[in-house]
Amino acid sequence: MTDERALFCKLNTLENSDKDSPMTKKHIPVITVPPVLKTGEFYDVKITVGKPEHPNENEHFIQWIEFYIGSVYLGRFDFAPVMTKPQVTVPLKLNHSGLDSTLRAVIRCNRHGLWEGTAPIKTE
Ligand SMILES: [Fe+2]
Repeated sequence: MTDERALFCKLNTLENSDKDSPMTKKHIPVITVPPVLKTGEFYDVKITVGKPEHPNENEHFIQWIEFYIGSVYLGRFDFAPVMTKPQVTVPLKLNHSGLDSTLRAVIRCNRHGLWEGTAPIKTE
């Protein structure tokens, strides 16, 4: 059994976690976006947490989601447990063609720390 306190000492990712464990599966953010975006057009990027979904209780919940392209900050969303669900859909428009990058979502669980999910994207 993993010492859960160690989860707070790093950014947990698919690469540095046991990707088949229930802990990893319910914490990695899931980003849904078309793989290729036309420059200058808005596309909806949907971010959810976990597959299966992470618990959403007063004692155990997702406190926030941050959203980046590469290391560039795009947004942050805070959640109260039970009454809101840690899920967002963000319209995203990229203005540079030929971009080959990664969308990143970072979430914080109040009991299990920081977790990152990624999705590759290109622009044309
Ligand atoms: Fe958790």
